[in-house]
Amino acid sequence: MDKFIVYNSKLKGDVTISGAKNAALPILSATLLTDKLCVLKNVPDLLDIRTMLKILQTLGKEISFKQGTVVIKSTGKREKYTAPYSLVRTMRASFCCLGPLLAKNRKAKVALPGGCVIGPRPVDLHIKGLMKLGADIKINKGYCIASAKRLKGAHIYLGGQFGSSVLATANVMMAAVLSKGITIIEHAACEPEIIALGIALKKMGANIEGEGTPIITINGVDCLNGLDETVIPDRIEAATFLAAALVTRSDITIKKVNFKHLTAVLEAMENMGAVFNIKEDSIGIKSPKVITPVSVTTLPYPGFPTDVQAQLMSCLCFAKGISMITEKIYPDRFMHIAELNRMGAGIQRSGPYAIIEGRRRLFGAEVMASDLRASAALVIAGLAAEDKTEILRVYHIDRGYEYIETKLRHLGAKVKRVKQK
Ligand code: UD1
Repeated sequence: MDKFIVYNSKLKGDVTISGAKNAALPILSATLLTDKLCVLKNVPDLLDIRTMLKILQTLGKEISFKQGTVVIKSTGKREKYTAPYSLVRTMRASFCCLGPLLAKNRKAKVALPGGCVIGPRPVDLHIKGLMKLGADIKINKGYCIASAKRLKGAHIYLGGQFGSSVLATANVMMAAVLSKGITIIEHAACEPEIIALGIALKKMGANIEGEGTPIITINGVDCLNGLDETVIPDRIEAATFLAAALVTRSDITIKKVNFKHLTAVLEAMENMGAVFNIKEDSIGIKSPKVITPVSVTTLPYPGFPTDVQAQLMSCLCFAKGISMITEKIYPDRFMHIAELNRMGAGIQRSGPYAIIEGRRRLFGAEVMASDLRASAALVIAGLAAEDKTEILRVYHIDRGYEYIETKLRHLGAKVKRVKQK
């Protein structure tokens, strides 16, 4: 297992943002909807992507992945339909294979992903949506076993206790494109990754309207063609580098990014004192000397993303005054608080609220990465803390950040990866 050693740093220069993991994963599972050749470019080389490619191989696809391009062919062998627990448990997005398998093969057996450190993370909305399309779904020995004749279009309300669901919307969309008749998904997720999936499915011949709005209408077709598509930039990686610049009071430029996907993040950071120079596909950040405290609430897109909550919290630990973060999507997504407090931060949590008393200094310590974005938050805090910060269990970060230490070092950060004994 690797750990990161991070020292107080000042950043400068520019960094290129990778393709979005969360856009690539559903599009990769959408390739199960066709036997034709699919090519996906700008795919980040990440553990989660490798896991999805293994699942596709298990399901009978032949894969090559070179220099950011994934090529997927059907092997022509009898189609397989089981996504095993050994792969699904490492990554919840694998559950997205359920809809495409069911729509194309009429049966699917996909392991239930279970909970994770950021909360219970149910899949009831995925199952409800697919059942509305006519699937017969049973849970047996930790697997979701689904079968259907041809799925039939339906009117589906997909809102849950915490609002819309990104991957449930993706799963139901993918099943609906091969269903007979019209499907209307109400309270659909509006995230850019859903728009990207809609665009990819339309390139394959699907008939979809309204992706990116809360009401998506899909007119089912009999079969889909192949795909040649490029993955959109990763808005969460982009926000993470902006946070790294802000916390170290540095000026950097992030390149190959879509600023339109970052409005809520840019607004929060502007309120903290950052000044942005926004161009068509790059954002320059000029950081303030003193960070102003803010109150931020995470919400489904276009609200402030829960996936940037931890990184923003690290920045707010250095603000002049008291800030508040309200987590409305995963009320338990606060594992990083205890670790930041070990570095000297003053954060108190009450239910979904975190009150952050800004301090001038944090001190390096040995801390534990608990999940993907929390790991990024600890790296960010380490870049601004005094002395040495050691972040254990960084395999979490490798699930979602491509070449993170290389990119940070390119910006001048003092970060190294060492084998954890
Ligand atoms: C996706 C992202 C993840 C991000 C999250 C919220 C991917 C691969 N992952 O995860 O990085 O943090 O969106 O922006 O794209 N819920 C239910 N029932 C369900 C499904 C979800 O109650 O069947 C709840 C969840 O527990 C959570 C909320 O809905 O409280 C939103 O979760 P959801 O949008 O589904 O997250 P994911 O799509 O799994």
